[in-house]
Amino acid sequence: MRAEPGDFAESVLLPGDPRRAEYIAENFFEDAKLVTAERGMLGFTGTYRGNPVSVQTTGMGCPSTAIVVEELIGLGAKNLLRVGTCGGYHPEMQLGDLVIATAATAQDGTVSSITQGVPYAPAAHFDLVHAAYHAAEEAGRKPFLGPIVSADLFYDPEEDPQALWHSLGVLAVEMEASVIFTLAAMRGARAGCLLTVSDAIGSNKVERIQDSVLKGAVDEMVTLALGTLEALH
Ligand code: HPA
Repeated sequence: MRAEPGDFAESVLLPGDPRRAEYIAENFFEDAKLVTAERGMLGFTGTYRGNPVSVQTTGMGCPSTAIVVEELIGLGAKNLLRVGTCGGYHPEMQLGDLVIATAATAQDGTVSSITQGVPYAPAAHFDLVHAAYHAAEEAGRKPFLGPIVSADLFYDPEEDPQALWHSLGVLAVEMEASVIFTLAAMRGARAGCLLTVSDAIGSNKVERIQDSVLKGAVDEMVTLALGTLEALH
């Protein structure tokens, strides 16, 4: 990332999308400064209600995310909170709903490369799950809380992924959490993941959220995410 120690705060929000990182810095931080733009993976540091905080783009998928997370932890990051979107597998999920991930099945090649094939269960840190759940409760939101799956493919060749994953109790699919949880656990950092349901995946169709609805839901998720990091102080 071509960043230096001191560029990032100990608490970092991790969106996949660089434009979302910029939006969060501009609309939620005080005194936001761009600290990296390497490969377009924008990172910003500022404060939220007086406490230092950063936001760093991960890019799409675990390989790119692994580079970012290794370097952030090397630069002193201690609390990593993904803020992303997901495909919902739970039949009662509505577009725009909030998911708090407790664990992420590693259906990706990166975590198995790291563990060298050893079976492993990437899990969110309890402190972040706990703080996020209480922040959501205080805001009067009813989150879906439970396991998700991190996949390498957005366009899934599985014939009926919703039936498969719902039968296993998995709430949603996204593409980065498994490696964030794994690297944080290995390096003694804390990691969590908040997701907005942007796609409702049914047996024979996928419904995509409208941009205006997504914006409102992401704003609420980012507010909760910042409240979650604040509660760790
Ligand atoms: N699949 C994987 N990742 C996602 C999806 C999806 O349907 N929606 C948002 N992120």
